[in-house]
Amino acid sequence: MSVMLLFALAIAGIFGQIGSHATPAGPSACSNITSHLGSSKVVNSELNLKYINSTEYYNTLQDAYKPSCIVYPKSSQDVSVALQAIRAADSRFAIKAGGHNPNTFYSSVDDGVLIDLSSLNAKSYDPDTTLATYGPGGTFGDLYDYFVRYGRTVVGARLAGVGTGLALGGGMSYLSPQYGMACDSFRELEIVLPDGEIVTASNTSNPDLFFASRGGGGNAYGVVTKYTVQSRPAGQFFAGNIIYAFQEKDTVLEAISNFIQYNNDPKASIIGTYEKLPTPDLNLNLDEAIIMFLVYDGQDSGSAFANFTSIPYLINTLNIKTYPDVANMPIPYSTEISRGANIFRVGVHRADTDEYRTAVDKWRDWGESNKGKYLLLSLDFQPVPKSLTDASKAQGGNAMQMPDGPWFWLNYLITTPPLMSGPDYDAVQSSFRDMVASTTNAEGLPLFINDASHDQNPLSTFSTYAKLQEIKKKYDPDNFFADRTGGWSFA
Ligand SMILES: Cc1cc2nc3c(=O)[nH]c(=O)nc-3n(C[C@H](O)[C@H](O)[C@H](O)COP(=O)(O)OP(=O)(O)OC[C@H]3O[C@@H](n4cnc5c(N)ncnc54)[C@H](O)[C@@H]3O)c2cc1C
Ligand SMILES: *[C@@H]1O[C@H](CO)[C@@H](O)[C@H](O)[C@H]1NC(C)=O
Ligand SMILES: *[C@@H]1O[C@H](CO)[C@@H](O)[C@H](O)[C@H]1NC(C)=O
Ligand SMILES: *[C@@H]1O[C@H](CO)[C@@H](O)[C@H](O)[C@H]1NC(C)=O
Ligand SMILES: *[C@@H]1O[C@H](CO)[C@@H](O)[C@H](O)[C@H]1NC(C)=O
Repeated sequence: MSVMLLFALAIAGIFGQIGSHATPAGPSACSNITSHLGSSKVVNSELNLKYINSTEYYNTLQDAYKPSCIVYPKSSQDVSVALQAIRAADSRFAIKAGGHNPNTFYSSVDDGVLIDLSSLNAKSYDPDTTLATYGPGGTFGDLYDYFVRYGRTVVGARLAGVGTGLALGGGMSYLSPQYGMACDSFRELEIVLPDGEIVTASNTSNPDLFFASRGGGGNAYGVVTKYTVQSRPAGQFFAGNIIYAFQEKDTVLEAISNFIQYNNDPKASIIGTYEKLPTPDLNLNLDEAIIMFLVYDGQDSGSAFANFTSIPYLINTLNIKTYPDVANMPIPYSTEISRGANIFRVGVHRADTDEYRTAVDKWRDWGESNKGKYLLLSLDFQPVPKSLTDASKAQGGNAMQMPDGPWFWLNYLITTPPLMSGPDYDAVQSSFRDMVASTTNAEGLPLFINDASHDQNPLSTFSTYAKLQEIKKKYDPDNFFADRTGGWSFA
C-alpha cells in the first residue's frame, strides 16, 4: 500500500469520524453556554470540587450521574441563555435547587447540562410592605437565618437543609396551620419560560402560570429565578422533640389522631414519625422508636401538647427556641447526615377513619419481614388542619385547591443499603410500593407532590389536573421540558 493511500485513508478516517460522531448534544450545549456566559459560570471537570459538590443529592443513587457540565447562572438572563443553548443542541438537562427530591432525573442528569441555581441567592426584606424576596439558590435554613434579623421569616421547610424547590411542590411548614402552604404566601414570581422568555407571574400577570406554580410542581412550566413572598413574624417558639419507646405506639397514635381531629390552635404544629432500624429486635425494642416534632409559635403552648407530654417518654427537648433553631430539630445538618439511597412514597387519609392504624401495622409488619433490606424506615404523619386549608383559600388557593381539613398525609421513607444489586433493589422497592399501595387513599384528596414517588403520578389526583395539563401545554408547547428533563407526568 502506498504512503499516499495511507494518508488518504487516514484523512478520510478523520473526516469520517467528524461526520459520523458529531459532538454529542451535552458537550455541544456546554461549549455554547461557555462561549456566551464565560468559563467562570461553567464547570466541565468531574474532578472540580464544585462539580463534586453539585452532584451530591439526598438520594445518593443520583450522585453517580455525570453531567456534561454544570452551569451556575447569576441572573435570569443567564438561565435564559442556557435554556436556549440546551434547546438548540437538543441536549438533556436538569434544574437543581437543594437536590432533595429523591426521584431520579428530577434535579439530576447524566450526559446533559445541570443548571445549579445556587448562585441565584439574592434576598431582601421591605419593612413597609413586609414582603420578602429570595432567589432559588441556598437552603431554607439560609433564608431563616437571614430574615430572622428583621424578626421575620418565610413559610418553608421544617428542616433547615431543604432547598427552595419545596415551595413549588406546595411546601409544608410548621407555620402552615397559620398561613397555608409555603406556595400560598407567593405574591410574585420571576420565571424563565421553556423558550427563554423572562416573565412575571402574579395574580395580575400570567395568572394561570402563577396558579400552576403554587404547588403544581417544579421543573414543569419554566425556571423560577426570584420569589416575592409575604413574610411572617418570627418570635419565640416553644418547640422540641419527644422520643417514645415503641411500646407506646398505640397511645401515641391515639394522641396524634386526636390532635389531627380536634386541635384548633393554629399556632400548634406537629409531625409524628415512626422509625425502624435494621438492627435485630432481641426483644429490647431498640430497633424502633417514635419521634414527635412539636412546635408552638409562642412561648406558652397551653394544653396543645398535653396529650403528648402525658405519655411516658425517653427524651423530651421541648424548650424556648428561635425559628432557625426550630429548623435544626432534632439535630443540625440532619438532611446532610441522612443522605443515602432514599425513596419517598406518600398516602393521604381522612382524620375520622381508622386507615392510619392499619397503615402503621402493615408498615411495621413489612419492616419485620424485610430485615436486612433497609437501613431505615420512617413513617411520618403530616396533619392538614382546617385552619391550613382556610388560610390557603383566603390567599386565593393553590394548585391543589385543597379540600377542607382535617386530613393528613402519610409519608413513607425507605433507605436501602448502599451496595444492593440492581435486581435486589428493584425487588425491595416493588415490595415496599405494594405495601404502601395496600392502604387505600382517601377519595378526593390530593397526594402530596413533595413526598411522592414518580410512579404515584400525584398531579392526576388533583381536582385541577385538567387545568394544569392545559397550562403545561401553553407554557411548554413543544414539550421541551417534558422530553428533555425529568419531572411529574402530565400525560
Ligand atoms: C430531609 C427532607 C426534609 C423535607 N422536609 C419537607 C418539609 O418540611 N416540607 C415539605 O413540603 N417538603 C419536605 N421535603 C420534601 C421536599 O419538599 C422535596 O424533596 C423538594 O423537592 C425539595 O426541594 P429541593 O430544592 O431541595 O430539591 P430539588 O431536587 O433541587 O428540586 C425539586 C424539584 O423542583 C425543581 N425545581 C427546584 N427549583 C426550581 C426552580 N427555581 N424552578 C423550576 N423548578 C425548580 C427541580 O428541578 C426538581 O424537579 C423534605 C425532603 C427531605 C429530603
Ligand atoms: C456546596 O453546595 C452547597 C449547597 O448548594 C453550598 O452551600 C456550599 O457552599 C457548596 N460548597 C462548595 C465548596 O462549593
Ligand atoms: C447557542 O446558543 C444560543 C442561545 O444561547 C442559540 O441561539 C444558538 O442557536 C446556539 N448555537 C448553536 C450552534 O447551538
Ligand atoms: C387530647 O385528647 C383528648 C381525648 O383524650 C381530646 O378530647 C382532646 O381534644 C385532645 N387535645 C388535643 C389538643 O389534641
Ligand atoms: C389573588 O386572586 C384571588 C382570586 O383570583 C384572590 O382570592 C386572592 O386573594 C388574590 N391574592 C392576592 C394575594 O391578592
